[in-house]
Amino acid sequence: MIDTHCHLNDSQFDNDLDSVINNFFLSGGKALICVGADFSSSMKAKMIAESNDNIYYTIGVHPDDCDTYSQSEMEDLILTKSDKLVAIGEIGLDYFHNKLNKAKQIEVFVSQINLAIKYNLPIVIHCRDAYQDVYNILKEYAPLKIGVVMHCYSGSLEFANQLIKLGVKLSFTGSVTFKNAIKAKEIVQKIPLDTFFFETDAPYLTPEPNRGKRNEPKNVFDTAKYVANLRQIDVKRLIKITDENAKKFFNIKFM
Ligand code: NI
Repeated sequence: MIDTHCHLNDSQFDNDLDSVINNFFLSGGKALICVGADFSSSMKAKMIAESNDNIYYTIGVHPDDCDTYSQSEMEDLILTKSDKLVAIGEIGLDYFHNKLNKAKQIEVFVSQINLAIKYNLPIVIHCRDAYQDVYNILKEYAPLKIGVVMHCYSGSLEFANQLIKLGVKLSFTGSVTFKNAIKAKEIVQKIPLDTFFFETDAPYLTPEPNRGKRNEPKNVFDTAKYVANLRQIDVKRLIKITDENAKKFFNIKFM
């Protein structure tokens, strides 16, 4: 199984990164995507991908860090990429953490979308309390020339359907296993099987039954099991389908 979004580059993994990676592959994991959120975490994601088999990486500046963004720095990161770069992300809008700098967030988001189009890379979107603005921006680019995924989707079913109509994929973290995630549970049951895949967002959002502990990539199986149970589908079949979705989306060729 693929963990399509984790932060192995987070300092919470500095002391035991190798064993976290080993545990994932020993549990049957096939590939990991280590996600950048600013310049230095993007560089670190690249380094981790380059020194491990079956680990890929993304580069991007998260909306919380939009003040640190430089378009030329980002373009340099793309031009000096390794063949394991699979996407630009996580990028997007976050009005939950900060709604006073909307214009700046939008400027940085759009700049990174344009770079992704220029270099033909899919994008991984972080969106919190900003679905309408993200949707309006994406709509201006329709029909989409690059893959777009909403990471840790937590919006409404209505937005999910609108996004899917645009060709956007959704990805789900361990938060769908949380008791109060009623909307997400409904959405992950109703959307077509070819429109989503799984991630951990480790070290955050640990799925049940380990909620509260530090998250790590091997827990992606718990989220898949939970959703398979909700959808009344065999978990192996679900993982096969969502892995195919992810491989196609990130253009990962293996297995
Ligand atoms: Ni993340």
